[in-house]
Amino acid sequence: MTVLNIQNGVQLQPFNTLKLNAVASHYVEVGSKEMLILALEYAKQHQLNTLILSGGSNILLPKMIHALVIHIHIQGINVLVEHGDCLTVHVGAGENWHEFVRYTTQKKWYGLQNLALIPGRVGASPVQNIGAYGVEVGEWIDTVEAYDQTCGQFVTLTKEDCAFAYRDSIFKQQPYRYIIVAVVFKLSKQPVFQLNYGDLKQAVADHVTIDNVEQQIIHIRQSKLPDPKDFPNVGSFFKNPLLSATQHQQLVAQFPHIPSYPQADGRVKVAAGWLIEHTGWKGKRLGAVGMFAKQALVLVNYEQANLNDVCLTYTSVQHDVQNKFNILLEPEPIMIKENGLIQSHIG
Ligand code: EPU
Repeated sequence: MTVLNIQNGVQLQPFNTLKLNAVASHYVEVGSKEMLILALEYAKQHQLNTLILSGGSNILLPKMIHALVIHIHIQGINVLVEHGDCLTVHVGAGENWHEFVRYTTQKKWYGLQNLALIPGRVGASPVQNIGAYGVEVGEWIDTVEAYDQTCGQFVTLTKEDCAFAYRDSIFKQQPYRYIIVAVVFKLSKQPVFQLNYGDLKQAVADHVTIDNVEQQIIHIRQSKLPDPKDFPNVGSFFKNPLLSATQHQQLVAQFPHIPSYPQADGRVKVAAGWLIEHTGWKGKRLGAVGMFAKQALVLVNYEQANLNDVCLTYTSVQHDVQNKFNILLEPEPIMIKENGLIQSHIG
């Protein structure tokens, strides 16, 4: 029989990579679909909001959360179909992302190598369509299995249903609707590499193998990005802004060196890290929270900060970037209110 272990007053600091102090009034670890249903029923009976917690690497938590925090621990990696050059693999939402990427590399399954060392769990990867070094996870997702809270059933969403875009998906657009329990990836058994990203092409040189590509990605990330164990962080704190062609032309006229990435739809993505660096925030702190010295896009909790400290720093960065470049940076992580629901970011 499936039994829920609801705990009270649980400290969530170990479960969020920014290491914010946050106490959950109710907390439960969920290792199966059946347990998830029981947890949702418990929340309903006790009139509690629910907060789905995964790897905690893209979330900002307040000191106290009066809600049922459901920590997804669903495990399992199973090959579904091997057909020609492709295979589909079904992965439990609670599997560690980097361990899973390493497993695919060992098996010589191509596709996800550029996404090595991203913190978090598999179930969170489709939510903000994690991306790095020219690859977005949505390109390699076949389907997503989720509990649909509007119809009270488990459903399978196709890649198209997921509406993947830059750091965006249906799961981010409708945050209370779906709870992801598994992701099915469609990977290649034939070599496929994405080496367009400058640093990566150079680093891999002519040793183009699946192991070396993964190794070089790990190396590049380690050289630029802070390890959450030493410098608690949530990766890039802001999205790279997408500008209209006109807005971009005006900006470049004034700041010709701004790194720019033209998009298929005519818009131009610009590097938020560059904008932040050029307002003087690279390596600068406001109390316990600052922007990392080697990558200005990463916000770091240097000493026991709370959510207010984080907000003070990030809104100051937003303010300075807005003043100088007339661009409002949008935070990447979601921010949680004391009732467990999502707070829209302060503009
Ligand atoms: N830059 C600066 N100063 C900085 C940081 C960056 O001038 O302090 C410039 C760089 O010189 C470069 C450009 O900005 O010309 C882009 O920098 P980088 O290659 O480091 O990538 P990014 O745009 O800052 C994005 C993702 C990362 C991902 C990398 C590599 C976003 C918000 N971030 O960062 O994703 O690893 O590209 O593909 O899209 C994350 O989302 O948490 C994350 C780490």
